[in-house]
Amino acid sequence: MTDVAAKDSLTVTDNRTGQTYDIAITDNTIAAKDLGQIRLDDEQPGLATYDPGFVNTASCRSSVTYIDGDKGILEYRGYPIEQLAEKSNFLEVAYLLIHGELPTKEQYDAWVHEITYHTFVHENVKTFMQGFRYDAHPMGMLMASVGALSTFYPDARNISDADNRHMQIVRMIAKMPTLGAWSFRHAQGKPYVYPDNDLGYTANFLSMLFKMSESKFEADERLVKALDVLFILHADHEQNCSTNAVRSVGSSQVDPYSAVSAGVGALYGPLHGGANEAVLRMLKRIGSKENIPAFIDGVKDGNERLMGFGHRVYKNYDPRAKIIKKSAEDVFEVTGTNPLLDIALELEKIALEDEYFVKRKLYPNVDFYSGLIYEAFQFPPEMFTVLFAIGRTPGWLAQWSELVQDKDQKIARPKQIYTGDRELTFTAASERWS
Ligand SMILES: CC(C)(COP(=O)(O)OP(=O)(O)OC[C@H]1O[C@@H](n2cnc3c(N)ncnc32)[C@H](O)[C@@H]1OP(=O)(O)O)[C@@H](O)C(=O)NCCC(=O)NCCS
Repeated sequence: MTDVAAKDSLTVTDNRTGQTYDIAITDNTIAAKDLGQIRLDDEQPGLATYDPGFVNTASCRSSVTYIDGDKGILEYRGYPIEQLAEKSNFLEVAYLLIHGELPTKEQYDAWVHEITYHTFVHENVKTFMQGFRYDAHPMGMLMASVGALSTFYPDARNISDADNRHMQIVRMIAKMPTLGAWSFRHAQGKPYVYPDNDLGYTANFLSMLFKMSESKFEADERLVKALDVLFILHADHEQNCSTNAVRSVGSSQVDPYSAVSAGVGALYGPLHGGANEAVLRMLKRIGSKENIPAFIDGVKDGNERLMGFGHRVYKNYDPRAKIIKKSAEDVFEVTGTNPLLDIALELEKIALEDEYFVKRKLYPNVDFYSGLIYEAFQFPPEMFTVLFAIGRTPGWLAQWSELVQDKDQKIARPKQIYTGDRELTFTAASERWS
């Protein structure tokens, strides 16, 4: 039995033995290792928790992002996402996530300069990317090429040195748009476009995506702003699947390129980064506003799912969805409206008034409108997740940086409940098959 003050503790009785234990509660959690003292006898392993998917397990302490899903709150380093989307820009938000506080003018200028002058990649990275099949998925190319950067920067293994970590963080935030844009050009059979250091971060990305023979590509400012806001909205989301992948792989003390490559892999999966594409397919299938009531009936009967609605964490309007809706309007002002927007707006209106959705607290999430915007930019659906990955890179790196400096962290190594056979007798193949 442990000697813990009665307050801020949990008293549990193991009914197998009748023993009672006091377990400390800190930050509304108990330490899983404290359960290890609860055991049937000295021969048996201590009690553990079973939690596939970490549904109710905190894996770290973090000061990067705060979410209150019931209230629909998202804050980076304490700043509400609405204010950052309206008044900041992606590179400033990246600085905030990485450094924990807003930059001074000098710090901001130095940061933008550093990022801008690391956008180029080694020519062999280009050759490497050109080796992919003509129809390679851009996420596969991004995952491989960001991982390959670890071989170009072997110094990145020195993760205990703060200056060295900073260098790799700058490189990765700077180079992700280059790699992402080249994976897009590759699929189109178009020449890769080198970065233009006269342009801002997001304008340069658009140039690398869409520039052809013109000497300078100048995107419409409203489109630049809309994409920049989308990057801000995706920049971090606390311990989601890809961030957990970055932390888990990073916990082996591998270099950050390898860890971020694992994050890109996690994001590639349809349960994580692919919902906005599903929204587009759904809207196209509905086809016109008249078909919405029948579609909603199908959802309520359990035959359909209203994609872009509902969230594991948000049981309120996803704060990012509101901002994206506004961005969609701005983008359509430039590109001309998308008939699917009218269907989406009507669908949202009907769903938000319908008891089925109200009762289950199903609100639009970040993906409900983002696919429409990406389509207006003429991105093919395979590129949607690449855009997400570019936006998420500062978040992954802020979390990685926090991880490697956190003395509580250990190599990620969950327990298992073994369900297989034991102590079988092995018979050699020559005997078994004779
Ligand atoms: C995101 C999502 C996976 C969260 O799932 P979850 O937290 O496990 O929520 P649950 O599946 O427990 O849903 C609770 C209830 O709402 C229903 N529900 C959840 N999302 C729904 C949706 N999009 N359309 C219709 N019904 C939905 C479930 O059927 C369940 O109903 P029930 O209580 O009658 O069984 C889920 O809402 C979903 O599939 N949404 C659509 C896909 C999407 O937009 N994903 C992007 C997330 S950013």
